[in-house]
Amino acid sequence: MFKIAVLISGGGSNLQAIMDSIEDKYLNCSIEFVISDREGAFGIERAKSHNIKSFVLDRKSYGNTLSDRILEIIDGRVDLIVLAGYLSILNGNILERFKNRIINIHPSLIPAFCGKGMYGIKVHEKALEYGVKVAGCTVHFVDEGTDTGSIVIQKSVKVEDDDTPETLQKRVLVEEHKALVEAIKLISEEKIVLQGRKICSII
Ligand code: GAR
Repeated sequence: MFKIAVLISGGGSNLQAIMDSIEDKYLNCSIEFVISDREGAFGIERAKSHNIKSFVLDRKSYGNTLSDRILEIIDGRVDLIVLAGYLSILNGNILERFKNRIINIHPSLIPAFCGKGMYGIKVHEKALEYGVKVAGCTVHFVDEGTDTGSIVIQKSVKVEDDDTPETLQKRVLVEEHKALVEAIKLISEEKIVLQGRKICSII
């Protein structure tokens, strides 16, 4: 069975989408750990209600050692790390140990509206300010940069004239849930090939 760890910081609707897809047998995976870098993240409650082992590692207490602590917990026990609304930046050994085995969901069409400080509602505010007609989300591999790794899947959403950051966020989130689950499926079934930084899927 393909084993994953899910890292979160908040509500965990993407985590929920993964749990639902496992329950529906769309994904042949198991979630071994859910780790939050924040106290009170609702995603931890979701994990507990599914009897998934969960950890809260407060980012302020762990500071620069947070990624190493996560590595200690999961090393040798999972095949893939999924960042599902995880807002700290991973650094250090974990990036080497899990090279091409960490994915992140980002609420824009990368390379637009991404990078340091771009997360959550801010991304949608910037997209609307810029006046884009198409928004969307991206699942990508995580490397040393911020939102710079190879793109696995993108899904687009049409921007309406009367969209607010909140309405746009809501529609993009629906696509995030699909994109993240599809990416996990492709990776767990070994259906992707890396050609340089470009990823091709095998159908
Ligand atoms: C999602 O929109 C995700 O794309 C975003 O945080 C939200 C978490 O929602 N992540 C980023 O902005 C990362 N740069 P969730 O907790 O309901 O899954």
